[in-house]
Amino acid sequence: MCAHVLATAAWPYANGPRHIGHVSGFGVPSDVFARFARMRGDDVLFVSGTDEHGTAIQVKADAEGLTAQATADKYHGIIVSDLQGLGLTYDLYTRTTTKNHEHVVQQVFLALYNNGYIIEQTQLGAISPSTGRTLADRYIEGTCPICGFDGARGDQCDNCGRQLDPIDLKNPHSRIDGEVPEFRETTHFFLDLPAFAEQLTQWLDSRKDWRPNVLKFSHNFVAELKPRAITRDLDWGVPIPLPEWRDEPMKRIYVWFDAVIGYLSASIEWARRSGDPEAWKIWWHNPQAVSRYFMGKDNIVFHTVIWPAMLLGQNGQASRGGEPSAELGQLGLPTEIVSSEFLTMKGSKVASSRGASIFVGDFLRAFGPDALRYYIAVAGPENQDTDFTWDEFVRRNNNELANEWGNLVNRSISMAEKNCGAIPAAGEFTESDTELLASARGAFETIGELLSACKFKNAITEAMRIVGLANQYLSQQEPWKLKDDPARRDTVLHVALQVVQDANTLLTPFLPHAAQRVYELLGGVGVWAAQPEIKYVDEGEGTARYAILTGDYRQQAAKWESTPIAVGTPLTKPTPLFVKLDEKLAVTGPEWAPIS
Ligand code: MF3
Ligand code: ZN
Repeated sequence: MCAHVLATAAWPYANGPRHIGHVSGFGVPSDVFARFARMRGDDVLFVSGTDEHGTAIQVKADAEGLTAQATADKYHGIIVSDLQGLGLTYDLYTRTTTKNHEHVVQQVFLALYNNGYIIEQTQLGAISPSTGRTLADRYIEGTCPICGFDGARGDQCDNCGRQLDPIDLKNPHSRIDGEVPEFRETTHFFLDLPAFAEQLTQWLDSRKDWRPNVLKFSHNFVAELKPRAITRDLDWGVPIPLPEWRDEPMKRIYVWFDAVIGYLSASIEWARRSGDPEAWKIWWHNPQAVSRYFMGKDNIVFHTVIWPAMLLGQNGQASRGGEPSAELGQLGLPTEIVSSEFLTMKGSKVASSRGASIFVGDFLRAFGPDALRYYIAVAGPENQDTDFTWDEFVRRNNNELANEWGNLVNRSISMAEKNCGAIPAAGEFTESDTELLASARGAFETIGELLSACKFKNAITEAMRIVGLANQYLSQQEPWKLKDDPARRDTVLHVALQVVQDANTLLTPFLPHAAQRVYELLGGVGVWAAQPEIKYVDEGEGTARYAILTGDYRQQAAKWESTPIAVGTPLTKPTPLFVKLDEKLAVTGPEWAPIS
């Protein structure tokens, strides 16, 4: 089986460092899946990048006294290093301020335009009188015309829940600086979404395996489609590729329209950098290829409705027909949408200037990547909003990672090293031996199915159950008491080491850094679980250099199967796999995110 699998993760905004909630949505789940898919032999292309255009970045730039480009550069650099530290194995992690991305966005825009799916309309828009820029709906505050609530936003009222337009608000003012917006006639381009309603409905109906809540949400959205503005009065974004508009300084393509095209432009950039510029097509043109898009739940409709509409329109497959752009051809729609709920952080109040945020960089420096990956996989917001607490983090790290998995690895290898110096051969197996070995071997199928279905919590829980069985086995067999029966002792240690090896393979998508160490402890050489690297690249002479993440994941040894341990392999005394955390941390939190 060699399926082509496009795996994507939502693109984080370059308006600050990312916190652990962000990586619990788009980050860890996508990488666990990509690693697993590679291990089972799929041909995986895993792409993402930093989302650098739009109002959010402009607002941050204004606050920091930087240009938008300088702000994007700064946070792209930080995010790249955080995601590398977390071990996210992107084939390409890039950014939206590249020439390549701009070109691909403009190609998609033109195809939609030429096929008649983009229309021009004049409307009243809220503009900041001092900058001439669009004031985004959510940055305008005022009194709700329906319930009288004072803090209603231009997009909705959080008090009565009503959807609003900025022009409905009484006393509208900018949340950023209090300025009163001017409502000016402004021309925008709109994606004519009603022209996609029929095809979107049919397509959604064919998505039998999607989660019911995602489908329902998307169907509701499709039932009320209106044309949607895809340009803004802003000088930060992709220029509109039409003669009268290209040089218009205050008119740019809306950030969401440009960002979702990143999946495609990143695939194209990856192909070019890998030396075969056509290579992206096998994931985008082949009807057999599957695509899985990972994201937090706030991103769902952009991926289940807007992006599919854009693809249908560029393909010429919606109600007005049309032709795909010659350069891009007929592109595949998403086959799977995997969304997470939110990781909330009530339990730890950090300084309000930073918001209630636990930043990825701080977390990695203090506890390392696998502790965070484990927590997100086992206790993260897979099916419902979930509160992160330091108490649970400490408990899971100490009781599960360190005491269960770390301890199993440590005591089996230490005992074998002390008594045999090498991986011992087994004598005859007893029933408990064969039973344990069979449980570990059988787990590849059960956990494989769970991972294919992106049921990460169940998958890691099942892997840890195997670890628990092995610990019970050692406690029952008591190999340390078998001095007088070295043959039986060696058999027990052999069985334990085989299960350590299998459990390590099962845990590799979740704990790739620890997995590499366990592999080496058992005598493995070379790369078991590959890690992403930061590279600095440009787009030809005179263009800016930027950081990307990429890696050589095809060379790794890890396969999704039970591999027999090699009897006679010399062993060395292991050092602990995981550090146990001070219990006080559960009460105080770390210095950089104290619980108050
Ligand atoms: N930057 C967006 C967010 O953080 C996600 C963009 S996903 C993409 O919510 F597909 F548009 F890139
Ligand atoms: Zn209201």
